[in-house]
Amino acid sequence: MSVLDILERMEYGPAPEVRSQADAWLDAHKSTFRLFIGGKWRAAKSGTSFATHNPADGKKLATLSQAGQADVNAAVKAARSAQAQWVALGSHGRARYLYALARLVQKHARLLAVLETLDNGKTVRETRDIDVPLVARHFYHHAGWAQLLAAEFPGQQPVGVVGQVIPWNFPLLMLAWKIAPALAAGNTVVLKPAEYTSLTALLFAEICVEAGLPGGVVNIVTGDGCTGAMIVEHKDIDKIAFTGSTEVGRKIRQATAGSGKKLSLELGGKSPFIVFEDADLDSAVEGVVDAIWFNQGQVCCAGSRLLVQEGIADRMLQKLRARMAKLRVGNPLDKTMDMGAIVDPVQKKRISELVEVGLAEGAEIWQSAEALPEQGCFYPPTLLTGVEASATVAREEIFGPVLVSMTFRTPPEAVALANNTSYGLAASIWSENINLALDVAPRIKAGVVWINCTNQFDAAVGFGGYRDSGFGREGGREGMYEYLKPVAQFSGSISRPAAKPATATAGSPRDLPAIDRTAKLYIGGKQARPDGGYSLAVYGPAGDLLGQVGAGNRKDIRNAVEAARKATAWSGATTHNRAQVIYYIAENLAARAGEFRGRIRDMTGASVRTAAREVEAAVARLFSYGAWADKFDGAVHSPPLRGVTLAMNEPLGVIGLACPDEVPLLGLVSLLAPAIAMGNRVVVIPSPVYPLAATDFYQVLETSDVPAGVVNIVTGGRDDLMKTLAEHDEVNAIWYEGSAEGSEMIERASARDLKQTWVNYGHARNWHDTTQAEGREFLRRATQVKNIWIPYGE
Ligand code: NAI
Repeated sequence: MSVLDILERMEYGPAPEVRSQADAWLDAHKSTFRLFIGGKWRAAKSGTSFATHNPADGKKLATLSQAGQADVNAAVKAARSAQAQWVALGSHGRARYLYALARLVQKHARLLAVLETLDNGKTVRETRDIDVPLVARHFYHHAGWAQLLAAEFPGQQPVGVVGQVIPWNFPLLMLAWKIAPALAAGNTVVLKPAEYTSLTALLFAEICVEAGLPGGVVNIVTGDGCTGAMIVEHKDIDKIAFTGSTEVGRKIRQATAGSGKKLSLELGGKSPFIVFEDADLDSAVEGVVDAIWFNQGQVCCAGSRLLVQEGIADRMLQKLRARMAKLRVGNPLDKTMDMGAIVDPVQKKRISELVEVGLAEGAEIWQSAEALPEQGCFYPPTLLTGVEASATVAREEIFGPVLVSMTFRTPPEAVALANNTSYGLAASIWSENINLALDVAPRIKAGVVWINCTNQFDAAVGFGGYRDSGFGREGGREGMYEYLKPVAQFSGSISRPAAKPATATAGSPRDLPAIDRTAKLYIGGKQARPDGGYSLAVYGPAGDLLGQVGAGNRKDIRNAVEAARKATAWSGATTHNRAQVIYYIAENLAARAGEFRGRIRDMTGASVRTAAREVEAAVARLFSYGAWADKFDGAVHSPPLRGVTLAMNEPLGVIGLACPDEVPLLGLVSLLAPAIAMGNRVVVIPSPVYPLAATDFYQVLETSDVPAGVVNIVTGGRDDLMKTLAEHDEVNAIWYEGSAEGSEMIERASARDLKQTWVNYGHARNWHDTTQAEGREFLRRATQVKNIWIPYGE
């Protein structure tokens, strides 16, 4: 072939990356690997092993050890015994190790990239230019957090030993996302890579040795989901960080319920890619390529639902098909390939089956005519059009190179379609009108929003989702909190209250002393009779009847949630406005201080002084959150891109609150005030022992300009009512102050829709101590961070 021929045809020649170094590394290990525990390589006590393959040619790469219970125990033990010394090294000491890891990742960058490509099937273009550089960046960034820990995270301490289970789609990058913040915060880790892609984690273990990392700080155990489950259930692990499928995420939520383990879940997605008619279509088409064909679409935040404004849909799809026809799928070690192999035949089968379902449900398919390699596990870039919003392929995560396209007419319709999913991980918005894009971004229920860009990641920017996409953030300051806990949190176990919980009464006993009335429920800004028509008698410590409250039931909870759902204007109210309302509540409470003092004294038997102190503290707490309402700012992150990333603290939505018994008024205010200050609406279950402080409190709310539905109060059995709230689809989060059993029940009941929960596991807080019972920890729990990426420049 002459040079002229080549110029005329403009065809790609092969540009294969050399794999000899990776092969040499495998050979040096005789392609057989042990477990990395306590800084040493140890044969698995389980005695079992499994194989890992190159999906691009189906050939076996290596034999890996399957860690069993004894191995996981050994790894956890090693991590536990290393942790105190790791903390004792201090911020700077840990920073130096993280820095060394970053440097060594860079030093071995090419080997890591090639090995990742061999094991996973993703193109070397991506492993070399995206995965590995981001891994190094993550360790550098977190070397920084280690250095600044004391100054930037006062009052926080490491969680302890962390169990981490990661998926196969970004094997080394997910390892970095997990290990770097954990180590920076002073934790030690036991990490399990995914069974399809363990090799780079094992090479990383060698890098830890090379860096001189103390033994036991990082432990790597290979194995399948059974090994993962052993980590999750291990009694001596303090936190679990998981990335993977929503199904396994739910199991992990259930398995850890009541254990006190901290948990972060980064799960699946069905992210919208919204193209408005004024978008730069050529850029948007390139965006789609990155959104759904990057890493063969095996990306949790893949823009897998293309939503195009009707007027430009034909033109956009035409351009897209033309671009798809040029995508090259093949040997991932070839540097000219756009797409490589699917990780495993099991995954390819899953993709094919879902596409078949899509076709059976009426979708039309378009795939490029470009031939796929005959050998290996490949799937072509695929476009499905004519898809209904209710179709399986529009709802379920396909986790492959399959794009589903739909149209919309107006921005509100785009938002509705975008949010028509149980997931909430990411979204991409394309428009040359920045006003429109910035108006739409906050309306989308997703943890990350990219404007005129997609699949951007950086160590300085938190990543994570809502609802079926999990909870918690990875990266940046917000990600560090996942690996820390407050030094002052609880002060011992809860003591038994002086009085008994309110009990059922049949009608109104005739021999009652004079009582005011039966306090009703408070729903949607109105006093409401309990649906069941029953009341509960409230007795003082000496057994004297103090009054009656409504016995709320499931129906009352549903009504309260509906009222709270409708009060959306509160979440959109200005922070100044919310502050004013909270100050006004404080003012009105102060005006009725005498009445509340008396009530607390009668209910709890407390002295006048103690009761007065509680009322005073409740007023002060309201002042604190009135102050915080317009001061708990987000941040502007500076990732290495020409642009900014806005980290916005968004309200969670509707929070169910179970109030403690110890201080009936102060406890109620301490939960309610931060929640509403951040723009949430709440359904409050007051202390069942001392509910009258709460029913008196709604009279304060009524006079304080609190919009209807923002605060709803349902009296009755705490755990029964809270279970209904935890299981309710329209409730976004649960805060629970009660028993250890109740805490477990809440965590279990919330697994179905992966609500965020915050429970006390039966521990008592000192509600008068502002370090335990007030401030940033409460505000963080009342919000979730949405990162909006905004590139700029022509
Ligand atoms: P998976 O969720 O089963 O696996 C992820 C990790 O969890 C692996 O390390 C696995 O060994 C481990 N694991 C499995 N069962 C476990 C258990 N009971 N307890 C603890 N750990 C457990 O994901 P899989 O089967 O590899 O892929 C299935 C689907 O999951 C994909 O088609 C995709 O839809 C989704 N997925 C989502 C990912 C994400 O980044 N969000 C990553 C990988 C898969």
